[in-house]
Amino acid sequence: MPNGVPSFQQPASVRDYRELARRRLPRQFFDYLDGGAYEEYTLRRNVDDLHRIELRQRVLCDVGRIELGTELLGSRLSMPVVLGPVGLAGLFARRGEVQAARAAQAAGVPFCESTVSLCSIEEVRAATSAPFWYQLYVMRDRGYAAELLQRAHAAGCPVLVFTVDLAVLGARYRDVRNGMGGSSGLRGRLAHAWDLLSHPAWLWDVPLRGKPLVFGNLSAAVPAAQSLPAFRAWVDAQFDPSVTWKDLSWLRERWPGKIVIKGILDPEDARIAAACGFDAVVVSNHGGRQLDGVSSTISALPAIADAVGDRMEILFDGGVRSGLDVVKALALGARACIVGRAWAYALAARGGPGVAHVLDILRKEMQVAMALTGCTDARAIGRDALAAVHGLNWAGGHDAAL
Ligand code: FNR
Repeated sequence: MPNGVPSFQQPASVRDYRELARRRLPRQFFDYLDGGAYEEYTLRRNVDDLHRIELRQRVLCDVGRIELGTELLGSRLSMPVVLGPVGLAGLFARRGEVQAARAAQAAGVPFCESTVSLCSIEEVRAATSAPFWYQLYVMRDRGYAAELLQRAHAAGCPVLVFTVDLAVLGARYRDVRNGMGGSSGLRGRLAHAWDLLSHPAWLWDVPLRGKPLVFGNLSAAVPAAQSLPAFRAWVDAQFDPSVTWKDLSWLRERWPGKIVIKGILDPEDARIAAACGFDAVVVSNHGGRQLDGVSSTISALPAIADAVGDRMEILFDGGVRSGLDVVKALALGARACIVGRAWAYALAARGGPGVAHVLDILRKEMQVAMALTGCTDARAIGRDALAAVHGLNWAGGHDAAL
């Protein structure tokens, strides 16, 4: 098998976990997880542009002790990695958000719960002791958004991640083809049912043992959020494209903790976010799932770090598939990386133990990358850890000098 791992072998990398997830999940859910917007140019560039950056090998530096720990938003992390918000994770494995949150807790890194999770805030809270983060999309129904904020606060979430790159939903062609917005006709429904039935391991784990399959954070107020097509219609109706920077005072009044703004790709927006008093930004294009054709996140990172790095903490996501990618992002100004698909592939393939293993893989890969670039402290990794950048056009006017 040239591109995969036989399932009896131990997966060694995030890529191996992607292959195992592809085999285990029904096609429609794997495509939802793996895919991006339109022709997926930006999705691919997120990954490929990270590979255009070369690390700078150094030798004889005394790298006997490598410190991966860091501080982020007032908390100590065992390494600069956060499990980012991934909607519908409870469809990838039984009680998926709980399994992932427990793995994050054991590894000493934060887990961020998506608004559109299957496990509710309260279920994750009851299953963990470490504080987790909560991600919010602002909805037209502000009363309901306010209620979610109260629930997250009551659960002790110290950090709110406010996602701003989903004013409208980018079309994901794979989801359209798979009928994720609603199957058309008998043929479509049969294909959909066969897709589920032909994945018995998933069928046993998720729909049979993983009940209830409802959107735990939404179902109380949104009865329509009980099936995927109804949920999709609800998202289209509820997500509010009229939100502006002025609405942030509404948010600030209702959230006493830290607020991170997620989905910034332009230095000008980053400057506005800093002026609005956000605690951190996530340089993100939603994993290439929104507007195809925008810059890769790694090409956008340096200009944003230059613009606001002295005023806000900078998180980075998009395309991180290894600890080497984490080191590259730190070198270009990020304090930590959010991973999305990397943990979700592992969850789909092997549940919580898979997520724990992927975190261990990232940790070991970071350790090796730091040792061989002569960096002993993750907090001190700078541009001098990089040797070259090949054919990458920096977005936002950054001059690219390493
Ligand atoms: C996401 N992402 C996301 N972001 C968010 O703020 N709320 C959400 O509910 C979701 N849901 C979601 C589902 C799936 C299946 C994916 C893959 C991603 C975006 C996510 O938090 C993160 O920005 C990207 O996943 C980062 O890119 P990588 O690491 O997946 O390449």
